[in-house]
Amino acid sequence: MVWRRISGGRGGGRRKGGGVTLTNETVYDAVRAVRDPELQRDLISLRMLAATTVDGDSVSVELTAPYYGYASRKQLEEQLTEAIRAAGAREVAFEWSVSVPAWEGDDQHPAIGGVKNIIAVASNKGGVGKSTVATNLAVALAAEGASVGLVDADATGPNLPTMFGLPAGFQAQSEQGLHPVERHGVRVISLGFLLPAGAPVVWRGPMIGSAIRQLLHDVEWGDIDYLLVDLPPGTSDASMSMAQEAPIAGAVVVSTPQQVALEDASKAVTMFEKLNVPVFGIVENMSWFITPDTGQRVEIFGHGGARDAADDLEIDFLGEVPLATEVRAGGDEGRPIVAFEPDNPAATAFTEIAATVARKAAASALLQAPTVPAPTPAPPAPAPAAPGKPKSII
Ligand SMILES: Nc1ncnc2c1ncn2[C@@H]1O[C@H](COP(=O)(O)OP(=O)(O)OP(=O)(O)O)[C@@H](O)[C@H]1O
Ligand SMILES: [Mg+2]
Repeated sequence: MVWRRISGGRGGGRRKGGGVTLTNETVYDAVRAVRDPELQRDLISLRMLAATTVDGDSVSVELTAPYYGYASRKQLEEQLTEAIRAAGAREVAFEWSVSVPAWEGDDQHPAIGGVKNIIAVASNKGGVGKSTVATNLAVALAAEGASVGLVDADATGPNLPTMFGLPAGFQAQSEQGLHPVERHGVRVISLGFLLPAGAPVVWRGPMIGSAIRQLLHDVEWGDIDYLLVDLPPGTSDASMSMAQEAPIAGAVVVSTPQQVALEDASKAVTMFEKLNVPVFGIVENMSWFITPDTGQRVEIFGHGGARDAADDLEIDFLGEVPLATEVRAGGDEGRPIVAFEPDNPAATAFTEIAATVARKAAASALLQAPTVPAPTPAPPAPAPAAPGKPKSII
């Protein structure tokens, strides 16, 4: 076991032999009193405490983060260190692993094997950047370490092959049929992989429903933390089928800042609410543009409208992404900006929004009624030595 010295020194805590005996039970009680800074729940009911090990006056705490890039790691370590030192420890070390909790669904919407959280990316309006947002959120989540899938549910105008640099129709002759292809750490599937480039497709409503069903259920996804679904515009058959066919953990609604786009985004929010799909919030895309020659900020479609709409609709505002030539070029060339220019302001915006989405998905999954056990009063049996190095979240 490698000890990382967090705190210690003379007078740093009550010492063994100084009237307080440090045991797994006392440490457990100390940990139990600490709440996760994000959900304000104890770590046991959130299934974040994996084990505690006491070795003399040193304590090792194994924790499980509910999403990659867990933002409150430092704050929680500080709170735990204080509590465990107050219980008599001199040294406290932490080991972290990650286990993304699953959105369970219900009887009508049973979970897809191996897929933990389905996240729809939608808007009623065309061309506001749904596919761009879905692509870059997926790449950002994967870059943090998550297992990510992406479904192109736009049967009539699939754009994800282009955005991922995968030639249209390239699976048409494959004996395996349609299957996910991994790019930039994301397992992508699109009917565009079967359809030759530029070929118009005419689908009837029921066919779209059946295609969506197959893309979700008949594909070997493997273990997936987040399956993003890029929906076509409108209250379409695809959106309806999605909501009927799968347990959607949450929807990310994309809008540009101008009034007409916001009206359509609001309709998408209402649609999801009617379908009983939780809405994670709204993203404002194309929020502003920096002119390359003068560096002046221009708000082509206005700015802040999506934040106001989110307030009106009483849902969260997830963040804003600038209009940037590099985003458009990246989409056309199959080079998602998050993967190729991670320091570009648009890429950092996508990355921050992805972190918010991961946090919200974890919160929804952990707080959904049936799966959160009541806090257990009894301490766990003393933990054996850690079996191996846990996956780091940093
Ligand atoms: N932030 C941005 N900066 C620059 N260009 C962008 C940005 N977001 C999207 N685009 C560009 O705008 C166009 C439309 O984006 P996209 O295809 O993602 O929209 P969509 O909502 O999925 O469209 P559709 O309704 O047809 O599915 C694309 O050319 C894309 O590259
Ligand atoms: Mg699209």
